[in-house]
Amino acid sequence: MNVYKTVTNLQQELKKLRQKKSIGFVPTMGALHKGHLSLIKQAKNENDVVVVSIFVNPTQFDKKEDLDNYPITLDADKKLLDEVGCDIVFIPSVKEIYSTNIKSQHFDFGGIEHEMEGKFRDGHFDGVGTIVKRLFEIVQPDTAYFGEKDFQQLQIIKKLVEIEQMPIKIVGCTIFREKDGLAMSSRNARLTPEHREVAPFIYKILKKSKKKFGTKNASKVTKWVEKKFKKHPLLKLEYFTIANEDNLKTFEGKKDPKSKIKQRAFIAVFAGKIRLIDNLQL
Ligand code: PAF
Repeated sequence: MNVYKTVTNLQQELKKLRQKKSIGFVPTMGALHKGHLSLIKQAKNENDVVVVSIFVNPTQFDKKEDLDNYPITLDADKKLLDEVGCDIVFIPSVKEIYSTNIKSQHFDFGGIEHEMEGKFRDGHFDGVGTIVKRLFEIVQPDTAYFGEKDFQQLQIIKKLVEIEQMPIKIVGCTIFREKDGLAMSSRNARLTPEHREVAPFIYKILKKSKKKFGTKNASKVTKWVEKKFKKHPLLKLEYFTIANEDNLKTFEGKKDPKSKIKQRAFIAVFAGKIRLIDNLQL
């Protein structure tokens, strides 16, 4: 596995490879877990060469504390990447990516950026759009892979390549879960043992809401979820929303099995100071 820290060196290598080989790309912020590894394995199956980037992007954090505490496990990450057969890892510095102007570009993603995460994390999707656009320009992959745990981010990135007319196929990969159902996330490592123990409640509630949505309308299901969390001593609900998968607008009615548009339940919860998100197709 080759490790590159500068755009120039990475591009020198990619220029040679691109002539004959397909390039799959998995952008990450490091602290890799099995969820990331499944993206990399899929990229490996579908491409000749796999590039992974590790970059904790400062412009997508709305809280400085969250950025400062983001886990960094570079040595362990490199070892895992080697084991799954990653070909190239790109680990740039903030200066390499942003020079001295650590700012986001503003994007119009057609409204999906204002729903859910967009309401609670100011400027988050401008930051994501800025870094993913920059990384796509640098790597110029044929295909890029993103986890469905960040389903809204996945939809935003699909929109980004459309707006920017980038010839990159975006592939969404199913959520990887711990045995007890908790969606894998780099942030799980920061949970206290107490919060880690109760965190699978989030997925349990998602599964129960899926069942309820079969007979009850979305607003009723939402109220039921809110009530459940009000009673929970350790988990604080930020939002639970049932939304259309295509435009991410809140859906309030009853499930229509004949409709082509699917709904998904989205949730954000605080387990102490750690914010966890998850979603489930209904
Ligand atoms: O999902 C992530 O880890 C990040 O948002 C991404 C896509 C790597 C951009 O920094």
